[in-house]
Amino acid sequence: MKRPQVIIINTASVDGKLAISPERPLLYGDERWQAIEAWSPAEESTGAYDQIKRIHRPQATLEGSGSFVPEGAEPGPLPPFEGDPEPLYEDFLPDGVIRREGHRGWFTAVDGRGRVRNWIKDGAAFGADHVGWHLLALVGRHTPAAYLAYLQRESIPYLVAGDNGHVDLGVALGKLATELGVTCVLSTAGGKLNGALLRAGLVDEVNVEFLPGVIGGRDTPSLFETPGLAPDEMPTRLKLISAQMQTRGRVWLRYHVIPKEGEV
Ligand SMILES: NC(=O)c1ccc[n+]([C@@H]2O[C@H](COP(=O)([O-])OP(=O)(O)OC[C@H]3O[C@@H](n4cnc5c(N)ncnc54)[C@H](OP(=O)(O)O)[C@@H]3O)[C@@H](O)[C@H]2O)c1
Repeated sequence: MKRPQVIIINTASVDGKLAISPERPLLYGDERWQAIEAWSPAEESTGAYDQIKRIHRPQATLEGSGSFVPEGAEPGPLPPFEGDPEPLYEDFLPDGVIRREGHRGWFTAVDGRGRVRNWIKDGAAFGADHVGWHLLALVGRHTPAAYLAYLQRESIPYLVAGDNGHVDLGVALGKLATELGVTCVLSTAGGKLNGALLRAGLVDEVNVEFLPGVIGGRDTPSLFETPGLAPDEMPTRLKLISAQMQTRGRVWLRYHVIPKEGEV
């Protein structure tokens, strides 16, 4: 199936950790992360994220629900859905959002279990660079009807992909390409979602900007969290595109993914 190019970018400690601790997503701020991040707004345009956006010009970014809610957090209650749920399980692409003037991109987020509330829908809230960007959820047949009804009430578009307890990432990417014309997705997700993309053979490029710090911790979110390889499974091989020294002790590694046999 036709799918967009998928580029992954993460910022990690030297031991591959993506956050300081499992119970506190970085979105809510963590001064301990900032201590190793040593970031300054003046350097933003030279950071790996901004550079990779200029290189690939993605029309969509991708996050997982883990970037918004820690695993095990109880989502806020929703009113139960009354009526025939079947129509909710069709893609929801309201014209008012899809064909709005000034569209530039989609913030897509996988939320098959319907865990996230209080979405910020309009990219303008994140500054001038994100004007014209809008939220789009990726859900599946297993997503609770009450959550899909909530997304519809909020005019949050969604694509339905997968019926086995997870969003089918290949199908979701295919729909982004065919229904919305997306040719490049920049995944800024955590290790579980990026790991699922990798194992499904859906990743074209891996970027990691290493920070000068070591965090440790067996449960700390890490790059590419997947089940272990089976005895006959090969690791993913990479071809170096560039290795760039950044300011303040950061190192940005950029790799092309060498497809395994049979992968497209
Ligand atoms: N430093 C960085 O660059 C960076 C970037 C992003 C996040 N983070 C941090 O990393 C942490 C979150 O990472 P995480 O690994 O816990 O969460 P995550 O990457 O968001 O992974 C959970 C998401 O992956 C989906 N998923 C898991 N397995 C799947 C599969 N087999 N098929 C399809 N979808 C699948 C889940 O779907 P459902 O929702 O449908 O269950 C969920 O949306 C947070 O602390 C965050 O702050 C750091």
